Amino acid sequence: MSFFSYICKLNVQKNDFIIMGVTKHIKKLFKSSTNAKDKILVTGGLGYIGSHTVVELIEAGYEICIVDNLSNSNIDVLKGIEKITGVKPIYENIDCTDYVAMNKFLAKNEGIRAVIHFAASKAVGESVEKPLMYYRNNVVSLINILELMPIHKIEGIVFSSSCTVYGQPEVLPVTESAPLQKALSPYGNTKQICEDIVRDTVAANPSVKSILLRYFNPIGAHPSALIGELPNGVPNNLLPFIAQTAAGVRKKLKVFGNDYNTPDGSCIRDYINVVDLAKAHIAAMRRILGGEVEAVETYNVGTGRGLSVLEILNAFETVNDVKVPHEIVGRRAGDIEQVWADPTYANKMLKWKAEETLEDTVRSIWKWQLHLAEQEEDKETTKGSKMLSGS
Ligand code: UFG
Repeated sequence: MSFFSYICKLNVQKNDFIIMGVTKHIKKLFKSSTNAKDKILVTGGLGYIGSHTVVELIEAGYEICIVDNLSNSNIDVLKGIEKITGVKPIYENIDCTDYVAMNKFLAKNEGIRAVIHFAASKAVGESVEKPLMYYRNNVVSLINILELMPIHKIEGIVFSSSCTVYGQPEVLPVTESAPLQKALSPYGNTKQICEDIVRDTVAANPSVKSILLRYFNPIGAHPSALIGELPNGVPNNLLPFIAQTAAGVRKKLKVFGNDYNTPDGSCIRDYINVVDLAKAHIAAMRRILGGEVEAVETYNVGTGRGLSVLEILNAFETVNDVKVPHEIVGRRAGDIEQVWADPTYANKMLKWKAEETLEDTVRSIWKWQLHLAEQEEDKETTKGSKMLSGS
């Protein structure tokens, strides 16, 4: 763990801002002594995983350019990144499906060596209702980037894939060589198609290198609580729903099924801390830029630990000393019973390992939820005082 990450990790709520200030100054001193920095484009860099990765990339010394169309994010995330790192990365509101705008951006920001492509739509249910939107957003944006890479001499791409490509694996923990299964949703299908597009493109153009990262279930927030997951409306994912229920925003959590063939009957997933996941991108980037990738490499990014819905719910309640009203309801359509990663290949080749504890992870989620609630309160107060003053 880097010195900066260590400082950021200290979970001393009241002193966080003091620590952040000190960190900022130490980092400035450090930066003045580093020389050439590799420039990286992060698409979707203001999103949940994107923003945490940007923070880790900046802390690792990279120079970052972000494009994000804010479809599932907001501009305040940029401020959060700046507060944590002391650096304001280059940012433009661009949709990656817009080839002309992307081309212009890359021409303006020449010298980018690699791209991390997060920008994509990711809600499984929505993808069933709006398949063409998913194929356009996810597939067209990737094609644009791959076409633009050789034009702008971009050497490598890290692509955000998902464990959804495995469906329900026959053997657990699942390894990268497990057979892929027919996707259950257009979203899942875009991940499989995009993996193929990357492989075919690299095969035809060996100057481009790629790492495909198959994420398991990312959870948690930066320990500073200055960035985290911003669920749009009613959360689909488990942990944001748990946090909002604990905070009283939602009445009751529905646990989807307790009759699965698992020890407690609820589904099992591999929940990985988003900061650990972000760090896997740094490892992948080092490998690409270090010339270690011959063509395309694929890695599972998970902890190797499967947790049931009831186990993680229990951990959240115990660690944060809060109650989460919940009820068991029927199964959710399309849910996979159990999946968790064998991360051995990533551990070995990327020299990366998930390190955050479950306790720190669920603590970070609660801290982030409280931060969001405070922000909401501030907004309400400002609105109220504006109305009173008639402005
Ligand atoms: N769950 C509940 N109640 C809820 C929400 C979820 O019981 O309110 C359960 C689900 O049934 C599942 C587990 O919690 O058993 C995890 O569900 P999530 O929706 O958080 O995550 P999924 O594993 O279903 O899906 C996630 C991403 C997808 C991605 C998939 C595999 O949301 O985008 O992992 O990568 F495709």
